[in-house]
Amino acid sequence: MLDVKLFEMRSFLPMPYEEALAPRLKLAHEKLQNASGAGGEFTGWVHLPRDYDQEEFARIQAAAGRIQADSQALVVIGIGGSYLGARGVIDCLCSPNYNLKKKDTPNVYFVGNGLSADAMQEVLDLVAGGDFSVNVISKSGTTTEPAVAFRFFRAALEAKYGKEGAGKRIYATTDKARGALKSLADNQGWETFVVPDDVGGRYSVLTAVGLLPIAVAGVDIRELMAGAAEMMDACAVPGYDCPAWRYAAIRYELYRAGRSVELLACYDPAFRFMSEWWKQLYGESEGKEGKGLFPASVDFTADLHSMGQYIQEGKRLMFETVVRLGPSGNQLYVPRDEADGDGLNFLAGESMDFIRDRAMEGTLLAHTEGGVPNVIVDAGAKTPRALGQLIYFFEYACGLSGYLLDVNPFDQPGVEAYKKNMFALLGKPGYEERKAELEAKLNK
Ligand code: PA5
Repeated sequence: MLDVKLFEMRSFLPMPYEEALAPRLKLAHEKLQNASGAGGEFTGWVHLPRDYDQEEFARIQAAAGRIQADSQALVVIGIGGSYLGARGVIDCLCSPNYNLKKKDTPNVYFVGNGLSADAMQEVLDLVAGGDFSVNVISKSGTTTEPAVAFRFFRAALEAKYGKEGAGKRIYATTDKARGALKSLADNQGWETFVVPDDVGGRYSVLTAVGLLPIAVAGVDIRELMAGAAEMMDACAVPGYDCPAWRYAAIRYELYRAGRSVELLACYDPAFRFMSEWWKQLYGESEGKEGKGLFPASVDFTADLHSMGQYIQEGKRLMFETVVRLGPSGNQLYVPRDEADGDGLNFLAGESMDFIRDRAMEGTLLAHTEGGVPNVIVDAGAKTPRALGQLIYFFEYACGLSGYLLDVNPFDQPGVEAYKKNMFALLGKPGYEERKAELEAKLNK
């Protein structure tokens, strides 16, 4: 089971905080369990790992099987919460090089998560030569980036398979009743999957949003859900035995003690997009009303050679949360070289994991001594079950953290500002007045 450890925290937080904070954590816990806090209507994810739609789950598995059988590629169209979870899990469990590997499951490409014509054209070219399907994911059904991308990929499917054939290769994951995508899907007869009303985008990886693409990549989604359910059970019991309590408490105390940045670090490059998922989860949940830790991430040991200097000696504004994964699936041992020209024979016969673990320990001591507190999350091996635990752990701790900060952890009012400006500048009907104002500011 996943564990959270605090490394020598007393030098950073000399006063014991656990007892004083416990009543507030208990209140936050009750708000999550009973959907009674701010944004309570979006806490469907709390009980989801045991209380999900079994019929839809079976349809997800069946659709994944069909896509695996009839497609060499799946194009996943979505942004933010409708993108990062699936990408994080597939990269972590199947490798960031998944599409380059020899395998009997389809390649998975992610588009609609930006507005780069080059990125889009590249994927259009990559999938053109073989059979492909599309999973378009948008809870609102109106988000500009995925909606634009879907136009291109729907046209490519229709050009290749005709309207009817294309319709059998489009899978829409969206609201159960509302939105442009839902209406379009119903009109066209595409298979649809539901983003539940009570689950917000960034908490939706364990719904059809994440599960369909993840299953297409060959990951055992039952195991993923089983891991999440184990963590859900652990989090249902209030108290510091729950790892989410320990994590939420320490990051809150460090924030109160003046830390403004939390740096998520992992020693496995396959974790990079899980960090991106985590950044959205915490950034969107806590960053409001002038409050919140700024979530950032680093890939170690690579970033020790770029960001390491700042972490060791720069402005003391951060703490690190280190996700430890392991043991590795492959055990590689350093070969002996008789000439020893590189002086590396002292490592001959040692495993890569052994070397990595010593780097991890050395960094932990150096950074802590340099004034950067370290929290360690022991997440176990890269398995669907362990990752399911980790996902739920971060979600639950995030909900607790939001309530400790006294913000609504489930809304994202700030995201609308850029959208309104973009719509106005693009000339969307209804935004005429704002367009004139903005163009004057831009001296257009
Ligand atoms: O967490 C969120 O709510 C956002 O990141 C959304 O997931 C993102 O904006 C995409 O929205 P939608 O799924 O409605 O297209």
